[in-house]
Amino acid sequence: MSWPGLPRGDLAAGVGSAYRQAMIGKLNHVGVATPSIDESVKLYRDVLGATSIGEKFSMPEQGVWVCFVNLPNSQIELIEPYGENSPVHGFLAKNPAGGQHHICFEVEDIIAARDDMRAKGATVLGTGEPRIGAHGTPVIFVHPKNMGGVLVELMETPKGAH
Ligand code: CO
Repeated sequence: MSWPGLPRGDLAAGVGSAYRQAMIGKLNHVGVATPSIDESVKLYRDVLGATSIGEKFSMPEQGVWVCFVNLPNSQIELIEPYGENSPVHGFLAKNPAGGQHHICFEVEDIIAARDDMRAKGATVLGTGEPRIGAHGTPVIFVHPKNMGGVLVELMETPKGAH
């Protein structure tokens, strides 16, 4: 296995099975940061023709407003800063018009996925304790330095969502 940015070696027996267990599933959504969800909704609805767009809601603990644009095979998660300490402020400082912020893959078991990422040397953001994400299931974020420059959200598949 060759994965730039990760330590070599120490790929003990058992990592293979853990990998299968924690392997990413569906692309759940693409996170798009915006200075204004209201303006972005106009883009997705009026220009791109999206017909199913949820209500904007706040997630104060995560420092974001969120709004989902529903597509036939996935979702766009519009995120706008909520409060002064929002982690999205820094992103918008570098990308004032907004832009692609993260991608989110579903996993069967968030704890197994987190442990698997750590075992492979990837950095899980924050304390590493999963937080409840916008879909009501636990999520973690993996540092872009280990993910080819992409901030990756892993989200436990909602139970019964098959
Ligand atoms: Co997300």
